[in-house]
Parts: sequence; C-alpha cells; structure tokens
Amino acid sequence: MAIPDSFLDELVDRTDITELVGGYVRLAKQSGSSMVGLCPFHSEKTPSFKVNADKQIYKCFGCGKGGGVISFIMEMENIPFRDAVEVLARRAGMTVPESDTPDGYAAKRSRMLEMNREAARHFHNLLYSPIAQSARDYLALRGISKAIVTRFGIGAAPDSWSLLFDVMVKKGYTRGELLEAGLIRSSKKEGGAYDLFRNRLIFPVIDVRGDVVGFSGRILGDGEPKYLNSPDTLVFSKSRNLFALNIARKTKKGMLILAEGNIDVVALHQAGFDCAVASLGTSLTAEQARLMSRYTEKAYIAFDTDEPGKKAALKAIPLLEKTGMGVKVVDLGISKDPDEFLKKYGPDAFETLIGRSENHVEYRLMTIKSSCDLTSDEGRLSYLAAATELLSELGSKPEREIYGARVAQAAGISQESVQNEVNRKVKARQASRRKAFEKGVTRPSAAMRQESRQSGQAGERNVYSAVAEEGVVRCLARDPTLMKVAAGLGFTREEFTSPFLAKAFDSLERRINEGREIRDSLLLSEFEPGDVSRLSAILEKPEALPHSAKTISEYIERIRAEKFKSGDPDRDLLLEIRNYKSKQ
Ligand code: CTP
Ligand code: MN
Repeated sequence: MAIPDSFLDELVDRTDITELVGGYVRLAKQSGSSMVGLCPFHSEKTPSFKVNADKQIYKCFGCGKGGGVISFIMEMENIPFRDAVEVLARRAGMTVPESDTPDGYAAKRSRMLEMNREAARHFHNLLYSPIAQSARDYLALRGISKAIVTRFGIGAAPDSWSLLFDVMVKKGYTRGELLEAGLIRSSKKEGGAYDLFRNRLIFPVIDVRGDVVGFSGRILGDGEPKYLNSPDTLVFSKSRNLFALNIARKTKKGMLILAEGNIDVVALHQAGFDCAVASLGTSLTAEQARLMSRYTEKAYIAFDTDEPGKKAALKAIPLLEKTGMGVKVVDLGISKDPDEFLKKYGPDAFETLIGRSENHVEYRLMTIKSSCDLTSDEGRLSYLAAATELLSELGSKPEREIYGARVAQAAGISQESVQNEVNRKVKARQASRRKAFEKGVTRPSAAMRQESRQSGQAGERNVYSAVAEEGVVRCLARDPTLMKVAAGLGFTREEFTSPFLAKAFDSLERRINEGREIRDSLLLSEFEPGDVSRLSAILEKPEALPHSAKTISEYIERIRAEKFKSGDPDRDLLLEIRNYKSKQ
C-alpha cells in the first residue's frame, strides 16, 4: 500500500471511533468502553450495532458489517480507501504523505479507470462495425434511439472469444491487469484467457465523478443470464453504484425513479425521465439507497410488475425510507415494466402515473390484500394480522387511523377493533424494542440466568423478567423515594422470580422504611461474599433509562407481563369477526 502503515496507525489512533460514528448514529452507552445504536448499514428497529472504543472497532450483530474507522467512512460515504483516509486525515489535522510509487494504490486505480475508458470506447466504436449487426438490430427492436446510445455510451461486445483481450494487449495492458479489471477471465489453458462480455449489448457503468467503473452486458434477446455485470474490482462495487446516476443526478425533476433493468432506464431517459436509475444486479442495498438520498428527497419505485419485481419493491421500501426520502411506488397496471408502459401509452401517461402513484403504505396494504382470500374467515384473519402489523409500524397516529379505517372496511370489521389491534401491536413493539435494548445494555449476569434455570422456570421469559427485576432493585437503590411508586402499584417481594433479588428488595425496603441511609457499601454489607459481587455487579450496570417513576413502573409492568401470559389475540379477533358477521 502506498500510504505508509505508520501513517495509517497514527491516523487510526488519532480518530475517536465513538465520535466519528456518533456523527451518523445515535449511540447509547452499553458497558465500559462499548456503545450500541441502530445500524446505519441495514434497516433495523432494535439496536444491534456495537462500537468498542478501546479496540476502535464496530460490528453489527444484525447484518454482520464490521471494521474500523477507515472502513466505516468508506461504507458510510461510499468512497474508496484512499478518499476515506483523506477525510479522516483532514479531521485529525494530518496530511497524507505523497509517497505514491508507480505500483501504488492511486496509480493502480487510475490505470484501471483508464483501461475501462479504453474498453468502453472499444465497445462503443464496435457498435457501428459489421460484426455488431445483431446488437444494432436489438437496439432497433427495443426502439432505442441513436441519441440515447450516444448519451449512455452504449456499445457492443461481438460474438468473439478474445476480441477485447487482443485489442487491449495491443494497447499495452497486461493479462494480469485485464484480469484484475474484470474484463477477461482466465481459461483452463495455461496463460489463456477469454473476454467476459461476449455477444452482449454493453452499458458502461459510470460513477458520479464520471469515471467508467464497470460494465453491464445485456443478452441480445432472451436467455440467461439476462445481465452480466463486471465483478467488484479496485474501482467498482456493485452494491455502491447505480446505473445512470451520473446522468440522473443532474435531473431537474426533483426525484429519482428506481427501475430494475437497464433497458427500462434508457427507455425512461428517452421518454424524458432523465431521473431514472437502476441497481446493478443485486437487490437494492442500503448504500445505494443512501447514495440516492444525496441527490433527491423523493424516490419512486418503478420495478417490473411480476412477482420478483413486487418482492423487490417491498424489500427496497424500508431501505429507501430509512434514508429519510419520501417513497412512492408507481403502479404500472397490467404493463410488465416501465418500458412496455411507455411504448403503449407514452410519456404523458407515465407522468400522470407518477402523479397518481401510491405511497408505500397504500402499496403494501394492497399487496397484502391481494395475497389473502377475503371471502373466508381465515383469509380475512390473515389479512388483518398482516395489515395491522404494517399499520403498527407507522410513526404517526393519524396515519394509523386513516389506513386503519380502510383496513376495517376491507376486512368487514369495525374500525374500533382494528384500531385496538393496532394499538396493541404498537405497544408490544415498543415493549419489545425496550426489552431488546435493555437486553443489550444490561444483560443479566450468567449467574442470574443459572438461577432462573435452577428455579425451573422457562429460560428466556425468565431472563427478561430478571432484567426488569434487576432494574427495580437498581432504581430503588439509586432513588429510595421510588419505593412509594412501587408500593402505589401494589408491588411486593413475591413478584420477583429471582429469590436473590427478592432478598435485595427486602433489605432495601427495610432500610427505606426505617429511614436509614442507602449506600451501596452499606447495602452490600448485609450479604454473603458471593452475593456481594453479584449485587454490586447489578448495581453498577449502567442504566439505559433514568431512575424515574416512569422507569420503575415500566419495569414492574414488564415483570407482570412476563408472569401473566396474555390472551391469544388471534383467537379473540376470529371470535370478533364471527360475532360481527352474525349480527349483520
Ligand atoms: N439486472 C442485473 N444487472 C443489471 C441490471 C439488472 O442483473 N445491471 C437484473 C435485475 O435485478 C432484474 C433483471 O436483471 O432482475 C432485469 O430486469 P428487466 O427489467 O427484466 O430487464 P430489461 O433489460 O428491462 O428486460 P426486459 O426487456 O425483458 O424488460
Ligand atoms: Mn424491463
């Protein structure tokens, strides 16, 4: 690597990872030097993203992403290593040494970009040669204009094993370089290689700086795979680039349209929608969603209308939403994709479609509805279950009510009971979020779990209760006036599932009632040596929530919720549907 290791070491040392990550993610203290928050790299509702300040690393236990300060900036800002080092160096007030040797990273990168540009020129020029007749025929068949071909630099890879290889070698590029750039593949024969793209229409992938970073090649007609994309290289990452963003970023439309196929994208551009982009063969990634959100506040999904397209839309929605963009889904009706729609109805009709496009809630409700048979009780029940689950995820109450009314109508059930069900799910969601958060923040000691197991009660449930029980004890030890709150709720020592914590509660209660001072050291003096370390560990655990009346009430509520199994909501709803029907 061209940048000396000693420089990188110092850069990493001088960068405070919690401060750096804290600029993007809200972090809460977990224990010692570790912090938790919501992962910025995937969509999640409970925090599984951890930062360790001592080790200067991060790791998401949800999506598996992890690394150090440099990789964090690469991921977050969607920039290559060298640029990330620059960013961090500026922050730390350091200057990156200009020690780039000819075989250094920057030099290698720029040579690969130059190689890609040469290859793009080669493909584009070939398009007008006799051997590319089939590619020209295909363009004509799809109605793609010359102007669009030029704007996108579309080219052709003829049906030949090594045309590009030979041309590039003549230009002075080595086999090794071409392999590294993903333009050729090595063959079984020693030292042999063949072109990656053969008999395909070539779309250069150009990043927002205008560099040709890779290619995607579409088969001429039907066949598999439909698209072949460059592998990830020093200059290309499929998950961090979008086809046509180099053009779409300059749009005046105030939105980006996300389509599936490159043909759809160019058809949209040709019809005047210069704001269309597509992901590159992977389903949309969080990085791509973030990339889009840098250029617009509005994302319109215009995927194919087949099942895979619908599934992909449902997966893309939360990723796009998470970036803060407004997300809508274009309903193409019976047309299979934007290209077909434009051919049939023209650009004005597409403009109208955009104006009418459904917001993602309507879209998702519709998708749920069409997958359920609303003529049967069971079908309506599963519609209700899925629809109320979706509604419970909505942030605003008016939104939940407006869509709740529609769901009620579709399911043939009262608005009120839909609302009740939604509220129940909202509460459950909040509770489980809190639970998961605290599970991460204040994990009960192994000893506690062992105690739960020994007492013969169901493991996991008991652990959750134990977390809350610890919380009660900690609250009381920190703020003895909270004993009144607990008493007000009728809370007693019998509600502890942990005998050990019940004993701690006894001792706290006694001291508080007798008006004696509460200090950890005094409290601990009443316990056996083994129990002392256990109790002090509990008392010393950092609390995610303030020691307030609200906190202790929530802990008590949770202990009780764990104890009393709630009624089966599905069964209740089914009964209600039956009752409602019999009344009509
Ligand atoms: N795809 C891909 N690589 C790309 C672009 C798209 O692998 N660079 C994938 C998409 O993930 C999608 C499919 O290929 O699953 C392309 O979708 P489609 O709209 O069918 O492609 P079109 O070229 O528009 O084909 P058609 O003319 O049949 O609509
Ligand atoms: Mn298509």
